[in-house]
This record gives sequence, structure tokens and C-alpha cells, in this order.
Amino acid sequence: MKIENASFLISNTTFKKCPQDGRPEFAFIGRSNVGKSSLINMLTGKKKLAKTSSTPGKTQLINHFIINDEWYLVDLPGYGFAKASKKSRQSWEIFITEYLLHRESLMTTFVLIDARLAPQKIDLEFMNWCGSKGIPFSIVFTKTDKLSSSALQKKLLAYRKELLKFWDELPPIFVTSSASKFGREPVLNYIEDILKAFKSA
Ligand code: GTP
Ligand code: MG
Repeated sequence: MKIENASFLISNTTFKKCPQDGRPEFAFIGRSNVGKSSLINMLTGKKKLAKTSSTPGKTQLINHFIINDEWYLVDLPGYGFAKASKKSRQSWEIFITEYLLHRESLMTTFVLIDARLAPQKIDLEFMNWCGSKGIPFSIVFTKTDKLSSSALQKKLLAYRKELLKFWDELPPIFVTSSASKFGREPVLNYIEDILKAFKSA
């Protein structure tokens, strides 16, 4: 899919104030610092579209980016940010879970996982929660440029094995690097297929 244009539209603290025009949207979620904002920049080909930082906790709001005047990419704050106060963690949980549960135009969510790490409890719990609520998601492994291809294959295999302890079937899985742009086309093609199905429904 070709990205003709991509621009920032609006930031919100509640799903209730998010755009109400019914354009289909795709959200990016995952631990703080996993690379959500960087992935949005990589997919759109605009390095400075979403704000990134090496310090976790950069994205604090629900950020809508409008793509090709037709659909939205949504950058969300990360979870599991150790330095966040209890209060801000609770407010995160409320506003993100409300968003995920009630946002009708949300087509699917990409759950980002740092390919270098062993499966983390917080990610598994989050994905299990999505499953239990019927929130569709796929998995995007990030930062794969930081691993050799054999180390990456090992990590991916171990992750699949872990997921199969919980589920009979795996969600779609994408392997990416925002640094090298690896995995850009498969993610964009997946979005395109969903958009086509949405339009013809
Ligand atoms: P929060 O908004 O804080 O939740 O973080 P985030 O998930 O949006 O992460 P962000 O995109 O800001 O990236 C965090 C750090 O990881 C930055 O220093 C990025 O440059 C780096 N990073 C992100 N993706 C990649 C990648 O694919 N490869 C490499 N090498 N670094 C990456
Ligand atoms: Mg971010």
C-alpha cells in the first residue's frame, strides 16, 4: 500500500473525544519504549511524525494520525513504565482499556514486543486480556536489527512456544525493525487487506 500522506490530527485523554467520523483505525500498543512511535514513523515514511524518545513514557495520550485522508494510525502510551506513579498507571489502564473496549472504528490493534526479550508476563497478560474481551490484535516484533538472524529465529520460536501454552491458534505475527525498515510491506499489506474488507462490507 502506498502512503500518499500522513499527518498528525489530534491527541486525547479519553476515547470519547476521539474523532467521530467513523474512519477505520489501527492502534499500536505495548510496553513503554518498545518502539510504537518509531514504527508509526517507519510505516508512514515520516521520521518525525510521532514523537519518539530513548526515555520510556514519551507518549502519554491517544494520538490520531490521519493517513491518505482515509484511515487512522493511533499511537498509544506504553504500559509497564516502572517510573510511572500508581495514579498515572491507574489512569492509563482506565483510558486505554476504555479505548480498546469501546472504540467502534478500531479495526485491529498491533501489540508490539521487543524481539530481544524473553516473553514478559505483562505482555502475555495484556494479550490474554485482549483475547478474553474479543479485541482483535496481531503481534509485531520490534528492534530486530539488534539481533543476529539466528538469535532472532530462536527468540521467535521460543515466543511462539510460549503463546501456544495459552492458545490453540496464533494471531498474525510481524517481524520488524524501524531502524532498517524491515517488515514494512507485510504490515502495510495487512492493513490494506483489512481496509478493503471494511470498504466492501
Ligand atoms: P513510549 O512512547 O515511551 O511508550 O515508547 P515507544 O514505544 O513509542 O518507543 P519509541 O518509538 O519512542 O522508541 C523508543 C526507543 O527505541 C527510541 O530510542 C528509538 O529510537 C528506539 N527504537 C525504536 N524502534 C527501534 C528499532 O526498530 N531498532 C532500533 N535499533 N531502535 C529502535
Ligand atoms: Mg511512543
